[in-house]
Amino acid sequence: MRFLITGGTGTTGRRVATALADQGMSVRTGSRTPAPGAHQVRFDWADPTTHAPALTDTDGVYLVPPIGDAEPARLMVPFLERALGAGVRRFVLLSSSAIAEGGPGAGEVHRALRQLAPEWAVLRPSWFMQNFVTPGHLHVESIRAAQEIVTATGQGRVAFVDADDIAAVAVRALTDERPHNAAHLITGPEALSYADVAESVSKVTGREIRHRPVPVADFRERLIATGMPEAFARVLAAMDDGIAHGSEDRVDPAVERITGRAARGFADFATEHAAEWAPAR
Ligand SMILES: NC(=O)c1ccc[n+]([C@@H]2O[C@H](COP(=O)([O-])OP(=O)(O)OC[C@H]3O[C@@H](n4cnc5c(N)ncnc54)[C@H](OP(=O)(O)O)[C@@H]3O)[C@@H](O)[C@H]2O)c1
Repeated sequence: MRFLITGGTGTTGRRVATALADQGMSVRTGSRTPAPGAHQVRFDWADPTTHAPALTDTDGVYLVPPIGDAEPARLMVPFLERALGAGVRRFVLLSSSAIAEGGPGAGEVHRALRQLAPEWAVLRPSWFMQNFVTPGHLHVESIRAAQEIVTATGQGRVAFVDADDIAAVAVRALTDERPHNAAHLITGPEALSYADVAESVSKVTGREIRHRPVPVADFRERLIATGMPEAFARVLAAMDDGIAHGSEDRVDPAVERITGRAARGFADFATEHAAEWAPAR
């Protein structure tokens, strides 16, 4: 099968592309700045002239919404229609555990997929463990510089999930002979508070890292100060508030059910990444 992986340079897209290629599939990854000779094509959600060339001879598409766009359906639904017209049958959308079908952001794309696509799956992962190690991410910088993790989640808990597990589910959704035609809630094996995460990081680094809960408005301002568009910062801050009220305090066995292997826990992840939390020099 031949696949287009949008967000192909990102956290999950990169992993999905590698796993498909390892299985001998034909893979083209989309990027706004494609690397020459790396099976990459120029693809920009905001530039429709890049869409048709990226869709040439494609059976399935992995859809990562444009980052920072609070209303991705405006760009993504016309793309879906064009892809269907070009003969693409299967679509796998990366959404979020916080977004239900028809909800804001990717929720509208989720609804459009179910209505329009012959074969589809929607991935609804919980928060990524990689948020704690991706360079430039708020948590990485604050752990390194100030030995703290700042959120508006209070004592709320989240079943953090490893991006490798999300990608493994995506690969099954793209390649299983029988289309899933379903949304998958994807979580890690246990729900943890950010204080629990801080404790895990403290244990593997030997430094005392703490969680500092702040009010939602303060957290929103912190996000805006990083350069995030205000509308998107509002959405993310509201999600933290949801976590504080228990919205993400749940575990789902989808990773093991779909891939046959258990989801990775945070303690194991922290042990592998301990060196990445060394203090900033
Ligand atoms: N982080 C979490 O905890 C979490 C939890 C649940 C769901 N999610 C969802 O996961 C998604 C990915 O988040 P992430 O932070 O891990 O990002 P990411 O996938 O690491 O990076 C963004 C990717 O999107 C591409 N991209 C950005 N703007 C684009 C545009 N206008 N046109 C085409 N491609 C574009 C980038 O490609 P180029 O720069 O190469 O063009 C890059 O490959 C988001 O939709 C988020 O809602 C995240």
